Amino acid sequence: MSVDIPLLRESWGLVSESQEKVAAQFYGLLFSRYPKIRLLFPAGMDAQRDRLVQALTYVVLNLEDSASVTAYLGELARDHRKFDVRPEHYPAVGRCLIAAMRAVAGEAWKQEFSDAWLAAYELIATIMIQAAAQDEGFSPPYWNARVIAHEQRSPETAVITVEPDQPYPFLAGQYATIQVARWPRIWRAYSIANAPSPDNHLTFHVRLIPAGWVSTTLIRQTSVGDQLMLGPPRGMMTLPSPVPERLLCLAGGTGLAPLKAIAEETLRTSSAADITLIHGVRRQADFYDVEDMTRLATAHGRLRLIAAVSDDPDHPPSRTVADVVGRDHVEAWPMTFVCGPPEMVLSTLDLLSRLGLPAHRIRSEPDAGQIMHRLRAHAPI
Ligand SMILES: Cc1cc2nc3c(=O)[nH]c(=O)nc-3n(C[C@H](O)[C@H](O)[C@H](O)COP(=O)(O)OP(=O)(O)OC[C@H]3O[C@@H](n4cnc5c(N)ncnc54)[C@H](O)[C@@H]3O)c2cc1C
Ligand code: HEM
Repeated sequence: MSVDIPLLRESWGLVSESQEKVAAQFYGLLFSRYPKIRLLFPAGMDAQRDRLVQALTYVVLNLEDSASVTAYLGELARDHRKFDVRPEHYPAVGRCLIAAMRAVAGEAWKQEFSDAWLAAYELIATIMIQAAAQDEGFSPPYWNARVIAHEQRSPETAVITVEPDQPYPFLAGQYATIQVARWPRIWRAYSIANAPSPDNHLTFHVRLIPAGWVSTTLIRQTSVGDQLMLGPPRGMMTLPSPVPERLLCLAGGTGLAPLKAIAEETLRTSSAADITLIHGVRRQADFYDVEDMTRLATAHGRLRLIAAVSDDPDHPPSRTVADVVGRDHVEAWPMTFVCGPPEMVLSTLDLLSRLGLPAHRIRSEPDAGQIMHRLRAHAPI
């Protein structure tokens, strides 16, 4: 069966405004028809659970871009090993997704839509099952890691360093998912704030989200000696090869973490590197890594740091990262990395495009396509 993209898009149009309903219907069907599958999911299902449906629909609707879809699915499949997902679970998920869309669309749904989604889903499932099987031979489904340093750097931000029990291979700019012992089966993503190093240590910058399950536990109830679980490294915001010599890094809040890793890696590998890193926060007190960043800049002399404070009357001028970026920053077309809250990333990408920076020279986390897909679904990024 081939994949019929126009038919997929036409049918998606019937439910795209009701994605929350599709997700609720999907999980209702999945858990009632397959109670054993329920055990793979967290006890309390929160807003982030919609990500499975978001991702599935995003992938299906972007199947034409086969190289990036295959890379994304491979990464997702390796990551799904930590959930204990097995090949026999895939058909259940596909059947329930299609049944959920059919239920939400009502009479407008046609059998040919179901056939088109089944063909697309089978393609995706095959890629994921194969990628997970290949990974089994040489990588664990998750890593146990011991906390070896925990520093409260500001009222809301802690810098936490862990030592995994086995080598943890990753690329500068990637993130890991973390599970704390207190909340089984709840995983959250945190960017790795250092470049890979022989000591196999990973550092994370964690910002407190009030009432947030994992960030609160990491900041308030975690100390040296505690064990965490890490999912495999993920994320495409990595350095191209060869490493470019001019970098522009634009960070919002803890979006500094992966950009610090990228700066460190670039300074380590290229003696001609020339990096400008602009870090934006709301209040002056939110800067949590000034000492370390200054040390890095002083050691290399090829890293320029610029601070932007957007919302602190005691520390004028009030400016965002986008306010600081000017034509002179992008004139020689540096490779540009953007990371931060979704709204900051979107506005910065918009500015870069208006300043004429070509898209192929920009990498961001989150990626613009994913932000738009989630915004349309009214889902958290
Ligand atoms: C690729 C990626 C990389 C990330 N890197 C980092 C990082 O380096 N450092 C870091 O601190 N976080 C990072 N995050 C965010 C992190 O994964 C968690 O979402 C965050 O810590 C909240 O998790 P929680 O369990 O504490 O809160 P939850 O229990 O998930 O949320 C509690 C409540 O807060 C809301 N909420 C969740 N996140 C936010 C937010 N950012 N702002 C406002 N309200 C929110 C939720 O909607 C919910 O109502 C990253 C996220 C992604 C996707
Ligand atoms: C076939 C395509 C599938 C896609 C595209 C997909 C995608 C996703 C995504 C994006 C997430 C959120 C975590 C993340 O962002 O990495 C997720 C979580 C999860 N998926 Fe999948 N998935 C698929 C199949 C399956 C199957 C077959 C199972 C097995 C039942 C499964 C079980 C889970 C579980 C248990 C979670 C964690 C949910 C949570 O934390 O709330 N997935 N999936």
